[in-house]
Amino acid sequence: FQLSAMEATAEFVVESPDVVYGPDAIEAQYEYRTTCVSREGGVLKVYPTSTRFTFRTVRQVPRLGVMLVGWGGNNGSTLTAAVLANRLRLSWPTRTGRKEANYYGSLTQAGTVSLGLDAEGQEVFVPFSALLPMVAPDDLVFDGWDISSANLAEAMRRAQVLDWGLQEQLWPHMESLRPRPSVYIPEFIAANQSARADNLILGTRAQQLEQIRRDIRDFRSSAGLDKVIVLWTANTERFCEVVPGLNDTAENLLRTIQLGLEVSPSTLFAVASILEGCAFLNGSPQNTLVPGALELARQRRVFVGGDDFKSGQTKVKSVLVDFLIGSGLKTMSIVSYNHLGNNDGQNLSAPPQFRSKEVSKSSVVDDMVQSNPVLYAPGEEPDHCVVIKYVPYVGDSKRALDEYTSELMLGGTNTLVLHNTCEDSLLAAPIMLDLVLLTELCQRVSFCTDADPEPQSFHSVLSLLSFLFKAPLVPPGSPVVNALFRQRSCIENILRACVGLPPQNHMLLEHKME
Ligand code: NAI
Repeated sequence: FQLSAMEATAEFVVESPDVVYGPDAIEAQYEYRTTCVSREGGVLKVYPTSTRFTFRTVRQVPRLGVMLVGWGGNNGSTLTAAVLANRLRLSWPTRTGRKEANYYGSLTQAGTVSLGLDAEGQEVFVPFSALLPMVAPDDLVFDGWDISSANLAEAMRRAQVLDWGLQEQLWPHMESLRPRPSVYIPEFIAANQSARADNLILGTRAQQLEQIRRDIRDFRSSAGLDKVIVLWTANTERFCEVVPGLNDTAENLLRTIQLGLEVSPSTLFAVASILEGCAFLNGSPQNTLVPGALELARQRRVFVGGDDFKSGQTKVKSVLVDFLIGSGLKTMSIVSYNHLGNNDGQNLSAPPQFRSKEVSKSSVVDDMVQSNPVLYAPGEEPDHCVVIKYVPYVGDSKRALDEYTSELMLGGTNTLVLHNTCEDSLLAAPIMLDLVLLTELCQRVSFCTDADPEPQSFHSVLSLLSFLFKAPLVPPGSPVVNALFRQRSCIENILRACVGLPPQNHMLLEHKME
């Protein structure tokens, strides 16, 4: 199929009787081979299994709108600026030469996948985005809410993320973009945020919910959109308590909103999105998607994903600990220290908001530790400490210092120390992009099996997005995978399945024969 000019390195079709390129959809027959393990009389018995799937992917990409909650923040303004800069093909001078707009850091736009070997035995790569028809990021339409009334040009200047020469060119394009008023409930974010809260939806919780729903409908119709996806990139809230009768079921949560009982702003946005049939993604660490919201999403067949963008330190951790434990080293201490000076850092300087971040950052090595009973006794785990400090001077240029201490053979010790500096929002913005593009793609995929011929979509908790989240939400009972390259393989192999390609196995047996 056709790739857009920017992305094109190759056009590919899969030549197979199992793959049909119809005018509306690509249909692929796919043999899912896996195993089932059972414990029988002290022996682990492993049974290879095989299930025949038919995947169907609608080819027509929609006109997609993205509504950001916290649009005027560093991430919101940086993402909007990035898409405009790419769409307008901007370039600007810096002290190290001219820079051009790009999408570095985006898995779909700047990552590649191997299609296989050519006649010379060499691997052929295409951009990730070429695997299936995806919305082009330049075509996204943005809107959103913020408790701060600054327009997007002012927000970009306040964020101090982009080079001045780029800001100047973007200013006239961003000045007319104004965040819609939002819901401010002071006890959920740090008190130090109150000064910017000048753009508010007043009224009861039920009225606020209705206003958010009206905003989504208004954006959809006024911008002529086929679909809208809502992404929370507003400040980290404190955790909310999950209380039976309050937010544990969809019915109770909706009643809580009607009665004006405790509900967080982010949960209100999640409920409004789900009721409008729009996918909702949570880029912050708090437990927005309480059980009642998850149940509502399932009932309405709407995708939800979360929690907390996996951008910097945690991403490194989900590679490094996988490498250490995967190599058979026993990591016993992980100490992570951060300092940052942006508004996110200021908000996180308050203990309840820091606590949300600490929880989200702490669970990231659990699956890797549990995967290795040779190294770790049941219940044994490394010490894991996370510190975040607010240092205004460094602005959005976040510092992350990590120390990993592992046991080697015969009593040896290995200590690795890492120092990571980078603009936080320039890491987060491409992740936000991937989240909406992959979520939208998943909305066009359906599948059935020989045993269950009724077409279905992915589970409403879209765990395929785990690569992009620090504390991935998964369907009940599903294992949480944090290891980064397992998460990447999951996305790649599911997209390959949709065009009838086998999972990437890296065996290269062709090159291991005489
Ligand atoms: P920011 O503080 O610059 O932006 C947040 C925006 O949300 C602000 O403009 C604020 O006015 C607005 N806001 C607060 N409460 C709101 C509400 N109820 N409704 C609408 N708007 C509201 O923060 P930044 O750097 O953009 O980060 C956003 C979120 O993303 C934070 O929770 C942060 O922890 C999370 N995150 C950021 C990562 C990064 O690399 N930048 C990585 C992982 C998560």
